[in-house]
Amino acid sequence: MVLVTGGCGYVGSHTVVELLQEGESVLVVDDLSNASKKSLERVRQITGKEVCFEQVDLKDAKALGKVFDKYCGKKAGDKIDTVIHFAAFKAVGESVKKPLEYYQNNTIGVINLLFCMQKHAIKNFVFSSSATVYGVPERCPIEETAGRSALSPYGATKIITEDILLDIAKADKDFSAILLRYFNPVGAHKSGLIGENPKGIPNNLMPYITGAAIGKLPPLKVFGGDYPTMDGTCVRDYIHIVDLAKGHIAALKKVRQQKGAVAYNLGTGKGLTVLQIIQAFEKSTGVSLPYTIVERREGDATECYASTTKAEQELAWKASLGVEDMCKDHYDWQVKNPNGYND
Ligand code: UFG
Repeated sequence: MVLVTGGCGYVGSHTVVELLQEGESVLVVDDLSNASKKSLERVRQITGKEVCFEQVDLKDAKALGKVFDKYCGKKAGDKIDTVIHFAAFKAVGESVKKPLEYYQNNTIGVINLLFCMQKHAIKNFVFSSSATVYGVPERCPIEETAGRSALSPYGATKIITEDILLDIAKADKDFSAILLRYFNPVGAHKSGLIGENPKGIPNNLMPYITGAAIGKLPPLKVFGGDYPTMDGTCVRDYIHIVDLAKGHIAALKKVRQQKGAVAYNLGTGKGLTVLQIIQAFEKSTGVSLPYTIVERREGDATECYASTTKAEQELAWKASLGVEDMCKDHYDWQVKNPNGYND
């Protein structure tokens, strides 16, 4: 059995679909602070399969311990053998305003989780890290060996968690961890049943675009038109959420085979500007998207895209969906669920 923390969230729910389709049994642990349990009903609709669910905040060590006792006492085939850890606060700007909450939630949660794993001798861990650990990249494409630096408390919590896992792997030769550094996840499942469900006004580009496209948000502001790029706007490596979820299946296979802690980029390796995303969105949906170019947003790197060689060679995984699928699928989800799961 695979324990998925944060399995009701955006990346979590798409990964749960892929896990179930691979025949894995899944236990989701989520505190529902930033996600809806309705996502799991939708997962059931897509896959026709059930998941176990426990509503627990990872900061509550006692409650978490009870979950492990319950699921590790079961018959062998249903015991937890691997943990995929998504549950964390994830808004960069909010983390700057509320650093303590971010350090508390994102580090105490994972430490409690790792203590439970230690108690029950569970050795396999897949961690939802981020390309944010690269700070302002020195060069692109970014290789996994590039230096790490934090530009926000959020980024710092990702680096701290990576370091905790690297140190456990040094101390325990049977421990296996994979650190997945996501670039910019966008899109939604083809069914339109699960997708990103941001609270309030989205900070990220694609949910803002789809919200503006259905008239729920004012026109898009493009942050900065004077960057040294082909059209003056920032370059990012957008990756379809279903490709990203499949990257976790590749990581699951690998983490069960190897020992030690290893980092992999999950991106497409292709950089696109904000204006290229707008064009692709208009082309794939037929919806015109008014925008204005405004001042740069503080803290934005000019360009950020992945080297995908290591993941291709060692995980045998490569993203396959293009930018038009990313835009179209995100838009379809938004049209079908204008208020996310809350309607
Ligand atoms: N952008 C706009 N207008 C908007 C929102 C975004 O022009 O309303 C631009 C940004 O300036 C940037 C690009 O769109 O150039 C992408 O911005 P996002 O906020 O969607 O994504 P970021 O690359 O800033 O951040 C993402 C994740 C973070 C992660 C980071 C580094 O959201 O969690 O990548 O990998 F830390």
